[in-house]
Amino acid sequence: MKEIVITINGSQVHGHDGMTILEVAQENGIDIPTLCYSPELTPIGACRICVVEVDDSRTLVGSCHTPITQGMVIYTHSPKVLEARKAIVELLLASHPDNCLVCDKANRCELRKIAADLEVGLPRFRSRKRYYPIEDVSPYIVRDLSKCILCRKCIRACNEIKKADVFAMAYRGFDSKVVVDLDQPLDKDVCRDCDVCISLCPTGALSKPSEKREEKKGKPLVITG
Ligand code: SF4
Ligand code: SF4
Ligand code: FES
Repeated sequence: MKEIVITINGSQVHGHDGMTILEVAQENGIDIPTLCYSPELTPIGACRICVVEVDDSRTLVGSCHTPITQGMVIYTHSPKVLEARKAIVELLLASHPDNCLVCDKANRCELRKIAADLEVGLPRFRSRKRYYPIEDVSPYIVRDLSKCILCRKCIRACNEIKKADVFAMAYRGFDSKVVVDLDQPLDKDVCRDCDVCISLCPTGALSKPSEKREEKKGKPLVITG
């Protein structure tokens, strides 16, 4: 494998061809937030939260899917990058329901953690919120798509890891939605003993029925250990 030397935030670091900016950054202890990325899944660059500044590039680039090249000079936390990440989080929160305090994902919600890290408070933007009824027909999985940020991790997880292909994207623009079959409520036997999509969902959009019961009681789920 060919060694590639790049500069991240002023320090020279080494990687090899085929590695992405995110992978090299993570190997060197540099934290770049991600929402649609998982090392187990094919990167698709859907959420843009992982953007970084690269010398000689007119626009910010998505670090999770951009391969490193020899001599690249990268800034992962420049003012321009932080401003872009904050705007992305604010837009996501603006169309998100306001019940985070009693959400079953609570302190495991990646969106909430990134918002706190970036010190994003109340969104500056007003945006139409998407409201969907909670789907709790399945005994194995509950979908609360009002909290979905369309990262498509569940689609890829079910397809690439479970090889079950339960989900697909449907509709366009504001109406875009992760659907099952012809937009039917999720109720599949293949979900028995499988929580691959639930474990990778970065928000409270997917949960186990037991977790949802805690939310209905209004109790934030407390994670210990
Ligand atoms: S349900 Fe979760 S994993 Fe699936 S697209 Fe929505 S936020 Fe992403
Ligand atoms: S629980 Fe497993 S089989 Fe069911 S939708 Fe999620 S990944 Fe697919
Ligand atoms: S984490 Fe890179 S685009 Fe979503």
